[in-house]
Amino acid sequence: MAAWSGGYFTDVQYTSNFYPQLAPGSMAFACLRQGVRPPALGAGSTFLELGCGQGFGLNLLAAANPGLQFLGVDFHPGQIANATQLAQAAGLANVAFEDLSFEQMLALPEGRLPRCEIIALHGVYSWVSPENRGVIVRILDRLLKPGGMAYVSYNCMPGWAPLIPLRRFLLEYVARTPGDPQVVVLEALRAALQMIEDGGRFFETAPTIKPAIERALKQDPSYLVHEHLNAHFNPLFHADVAREMEGARLSFAASANVADDLPSLAAPAPLERRISATQDGTWKQTLLDYAGAKLFRRDIFVRGLNRLSGPERAARLAETRFALLTSPDQLITEFIIPIGRMKGDPKVYGAIAHALAGGPKSYAELAGLPALAGAAEGVLIKAVSLLVGAHQIHPLAEDAATEPALAFNRAVLARLDHDPSTGHLASALTGAGVRLEFPELLAVRGELEGETNTAMTARHGAEALARAGVRLAKDGQPLAEGPAVAAELKARIAAFRKAKLPLYRQLGVV
Ligand SMILES: C[S@@+](CC[C@H](N)C(=O)[O-])C[C@H]1O[C@@H](n2cnc3c(N)ncnc32)[C@H](O)[C@@H]1O
Repeated sequence: MAAWSGGYFTDVQYTSNFYPQLAPGSMAFACLRQGVRPPALGAGSTFLELGCGQGFGLNLLAAANPGLQFLGVDFHPGQIANATQLAQAAGLANVAFEDLSFEQMLALPEGRLPRCEIIALHGVYSWVSPENRGVIVRILDRLLKPGGMAYVSYNCMPGWAPLIPLRRFLLEYVARTPGDPQVVVLEALRAALQMIEDGGRFFETAPTIKPAIERALKQDPSYLVHEHLNAHFNPLFHADVAREMEGARLSFAASANVADDLPSLAAPAPLERRISATQDGTWKQTLLDYAGAKLFRRDIFVRGLNRLSGPERAARLAETRFALLTSPDQLITEFIIPIGRMKGDPKVYGAIAHALAGGPKSYAELAGLPALAGAAEGVLIKAVSLLVGAHQIHPLAEDAATEPALAFNRAVLARLDHDPSTGHLASALTGAGVRLEFPELLAVRGELEGETNTAMTARHGAEALARAGVRLAKDGQPLAEGPAVAAELKARIAAFRKAKLPLYRQLGVV
């Protein structure tokens, strides 16, 4: 671990990710849905990410929201160098990155860093020391403007309670085993699994441990080392985080996981009424966390909680416009919710998707769909919230200039030959990202580069997969390398062009 790391695991760089919940439009919708006024965002508004990692997500947001300014800060110079290189390759003029620790940020003279409408920290707050959490709160206090939103995600209690000894087991195992931590962490997980199979009594006390190990074994090892091997690892109770945020005069506004705020989705029926009737916000969140055995929270706090009146909320919601992110026949209508899974009525969800397939529509227009006539109050808001949460639809961005998003997508796709794991591209229409599969990315690159020879695109794609050692599967079976892979890619590219390309053009992805 580097001397400057303060116990943070810096030997392996973090993965490149985009989290749709960080998109400004998604956060604003979450606040609005909860009746809280989001900040007005426009030219010159600033979005700061603390602990931005590789900066992939922040670069994507900058490309998709050219009217806003973005600043990413992280103390890992290797990651900041990568983030800056991607910004340069994409020609983004509205994003900057700085390799500063949180302590160094605080030591800068007043005015050196901008005051912001949005400050986000994802995957940071429960992985740093309590002292560093205090530093983060002081940064929020100094840099978040009145009315601004702070996104703070963290591993939380009580869901983590049975897993804390598992994490300790991994830490002790890794400390005793020489070798690449990314390999050893997997070995440690297998050793824990073996303990269960051999009858280790502790593991019998918590049925969530085995599935957690099985899930972890499928994850990227560079994610796992950051999740488990930091010196600081403090799953937090929401009540404690809310109290800490008071230090920056912040109040809890909404969950960035939009389904988490609907008690009907977040609590078993017998608890739902009691939780809904609770007026104390922190207590309500606490009850929801116990009801759903929550492991991870994505909280949105605001600096100055201003409640919208009922009519104002309704009017703002009515004019919010949404775009479809997938083709109607691939729409997800079964959702993962805090207490399990939920099937949406295909009539309602299908009608929304088909209406949006014709172009963006406002909430008021969706409310007027014949399929919703006579539907109980709350059906549409629930459907729209679930569809936003499952990344099937997204609110529109204020400024939909497409060129920066296209330039970003070209820069990302230029790396596809070396890194087929790339997954997200920028969408100018929504100010957010969309996830595409490898053949779809090949098709988009072909379009952006004017490459019309599908057979050649597929052959290059097959070569890139072979170089990266990635096996393409068909009907659950990995394909033999070479011509079979190229033929499958060619078929999927053609299918994408027919079914989805017009939609991605509309979204400003291509
Ligand atoms: C789990 S990663 C999350 C990265 C990014 N937010 C994401 O979700 O992809 C946490 C990041 O916080 C950074 N970090 C940890 N402690 C820090 C500190 N004291 N000052 C600045 N950055 C820090 C790490 O370098 C790392 O990139």
